[in-house]
Amino acid sequence: MNTSPFPSDFLWGAATAAYQIEGAHDADGKGPSIWDMMSRKEGAIAGGVTGDIACDHYRRMKDDVAMMKAMGLKAYRFSISWARILPEGTGTINPKGIAFYNALIDELLAAGIEPCATLYHWDLPLALHHKGGWMNRDIAEWFADYAAIAGRAFGDRVTWWMTLNEPSVFIVAGYNDGSHAPGLKMSVAECLRCVHHTLLAHGRATLALRAACPQPIKVGMAPAGYAKIPDTETPENIEAARRSLFTVAGQSLWDIPLWLDPVFLGKYPDEAPAVFGSKWHHPSAEDLKIIHQPLDYIGFNCYSGVRVRAGAKVDSDGTRATSLGGGDATVTAAPEDLPYPQEHPTGQLSWLMLAPEALYWKCRFYNERYGHGKLPLVVTENGFCSGDWVGLDGCIHDGARIDYLHRYLRGLQRAASEGIPVGGYFQWSLMDNFEWKEGYKPRFGLVHVDYATQKRTLKDSALWYREVIQTHGANL
Ligand code: FCB
Repeated sequence: MNTSPFPSDFLWGAATAAYQIEGAHDADGKGPSIWDMMSRKEGAIAGGVTGDIACDHYRRMKDDVAMMKAMGLKAYRFSISWARILPEGTGTINPKGIAFYNALIDELLAAGIEPCATLYHWDLPLALHHKGGWMNRDIAEWFADYAAIAGRAFGDRVTWWMTLNEPSVFIVAGYNDGSHAPGLKMSVAECLRCVHHTLLAHGRATLALRAACPQPIKVGMAPAGYAKIPDTETPENIEAARRSLFTVAGQSLWDIPLWLDPVFLGKYPDEAPAVFGSKWHHPSAEDLKIIHQPLDYIGFNCYSGVRVRAGAKVDSDGTRATSLGGGDATVTAAPEDLPYPQEHPTGQLSWLMLAPEALYWKCRFYNERYGHGKLPLVVTENGFCSGDWVGLDGCIHDGARIDYLHRYLRGLQRAASEGIPVGGYFQWSLMDNFEWKEGYKPRFGLVHVDYATQKRTLKDSALWYREVIQTHGANL
């Protein structure tokens, strides 16, 4: 029999987010969020749909938890709707909002499922947007106050917390290219300030949570970003992938070190002021101290990756490039990101390129730079979308998803076998749901949702994942 390299307390989970599944958009005193606003804007969402009802999870919560239990899940990552707890974003607490999440948490615990709560998965209370949202530095305080309320209400039973989901996505798509809520198109200089405010909010919320929760908790984040995968595993290509991952290259707000260096290293990348020039904001040392809170794990969402090789070019200043650590070769060649051929397999959405080594290289590089073997790596999201439908036999044969998950999980297994501390894996998503500007067409779930009837049907992948969990990954 195979033995498993995964630790015994590994979190085998699935994830969702409030706006994507809950529905009940104005029930029981909930305030409107920026996604309630965005989904009413003409042309903003494919198919003109909204999350008003979504998976109706708010009303079907108990059945959904029973379904999770039947799926063998050990952990469930959900997000708390800020506007359900604080309809105006600050001030008066909505007791019915608190009651909903209390009931969810109790139900999960009774089912033997670890509740893992995300404080912010993109649904900013609309009232705070009217005060400037992430453009307003005061948001760090609003967010910390909300975190303290959540900590006091749920922190006796919730150990695992995630402050922000994919801040790079909600800032770039929400404030720079306008494709996500609140749909603004602001300059890079203005967005850099938003970046700073999100990081400050993360730091303040981490402090607030720890102070409010009556038991020791585990706090982290769920940032986005493509993996960088060495084209072939030569020391030169490995170093090239590492440099490509951890260098702020153009004036791009996607670059990972812009977000994670302040959080884990207490400073923005050295090259950022030069790269952004007059757009740079010169943060204070006090702010960086707040942002740099000790965290309990390194969380990351990961769906895809880019292949990288050591290119032909020498660094522009002619000096030998220094290694970024990890003991691989010091190289003179600048990294070169390689495009996939046009026919490369993807999910239903084109950004979801098949890149099975992604989880391994993320774990390895993040562990080297941010964790040093001391912080567990937790995959806060990984999943696949396909146009699944219920077959003539009443089943959903989503073989491509099973193959995708299998390959990616082997990457995580490799990381674990090499001694990299891995702490958990959350499949995105528990069930098909509202996929932001794409509406309901992309189906990411382990469970199929018939939106007309709200009938849930376990896909083949849910049955397969149950076996992975039951064998603790030994069948991978
Ligand atoms: C991530 C989001 C999540 C979901 C998946 C497919 O970027 O965090 O809400 O939309 O992509």
